Amino acid sequence: MAKKDIDWSNIGFGYIKTDKRYVSNYKNGAWDEGALIEDDKVTISECACVLQYAQTVFEGLKAYTTEDGHVVCFRPDLNASRLKDSAARLEMPTIPEDKFIDAVVKTVEANIDYVPPYGSGATLYIRPYMFGSDAVIGVKPANEYQFRVFCTPVGPYFKGGAKPITIRVSDFDRAAPHGTGHIKAGLNYAMSLHAIVDAHNQGYDENMYLDAATRTKVEETGGANFIFVTKDNKVVTPKSSSILPSITRRSLIYVAEHYLGLEVEEREVYFDEVKNFAECGLCGTAAVISPVGKIVDHGKEICFPSGMEEMGPITKKLYDTLTGIQMGHIEAPEGWIKVIK
Ligand code: PLP
Ligand code: COI
Repeated sequence: MAKKDIDWSNIGFGYIKTDKRYVSNYKNGAWDEGALIEDDKVTISECACVLQYAQTVFEGLKAYTTEDGHVVCFRPDLNASRLKDSAARLEMPTIPEDKFIDAVVKTVEANIDYVPPYGSGATLYIRPYMFGSDAVIGVKPANEYQFRVFCTPVGPYFKGGAKPITIRVSDFDRAAPHGTGHIKAGLNYAMSLHAIVDAHNQGYDENMYLDAATRTKVEETGGANFIFVTKDNKVVTPKSSSILPSITRRSLIYVAEHYLGLEVEEREVYFDEVKNFAECGLCGTAAVISPVGKIVDHGKEICFPSGMEEMGPITKKLYDTLTGIQMGHIEAPEGWIKVIK
């Protein structure tokens, strides 16, 4: 077997169909064994709970080719545990951690020729997801579920890769207090589609959402958490019960403290203080760390001193250390790297 003939360095963040995907079905209170299949089509009832009432949750993680030629993935146990929390909030069954990790490993192994080579700038994005698959017409959870994992090679989430982006403060809210902002449910993304299309139409790369209750505190974007750097090199990241607990952000906090000796504050961040920060970045599996050069708040611009050409110096150190750990040339903390091959 040989690597697929793909122009790895020039792919964007899009879907490329790979050879195999994993499927397991839940019925009568239990998951079946699960299997790899070739068919990329899903067949379910026209009245499936996912189609009528959006009962679906998902995860996103990546596999990397390391410098010494292994294929690894990053902290899949945290994705398993977050999927469990997401599923519980939507009254869906749990996928046990060992089943989740086994499914991820099997899917990557079965599509090993699609794992981009070391140094190409591309990675293999892995998408585990679960949905209510049997018919319900009254508003209630499904009785039957399907868990699937597929993967697709991807390049940078934002066009231009590490070039700073421009975002705007959104007039739309992403998540209500006591709502579902802290879980990875499809419904959070459905309601962000209008906001992202509108942002793109107005020339912005993303939306900065503020807290829905007071519109004074920074929450997150549609697909990533924020990290800020103060002028005296402290890393500051918003704390909120209505944002997704990003695995990248949690890892960066550890990297900042333990690898770079930086002070980190995880706290409420008022929008009013954003203009005082030296650097801003979006962090997530897809985004990695995407630097933000400018935030526009209804015509008022906040331009970070790091500018529109490059990442700020602390953001760059965080980026290099995290990706160094993922690509195997910086030693990882115990348990962060799962070797697949
Ligand atoms: N916030 C949202 C809304 C996301 O969709 C994602 C992506 O998964 C993140 C944050 C980043 O989370 P993670 O670092 O676990 O990928
Ligand atoms: C991720 O980073 O895994 C995401 O889910 C972000 C986006 C593609 C929705």
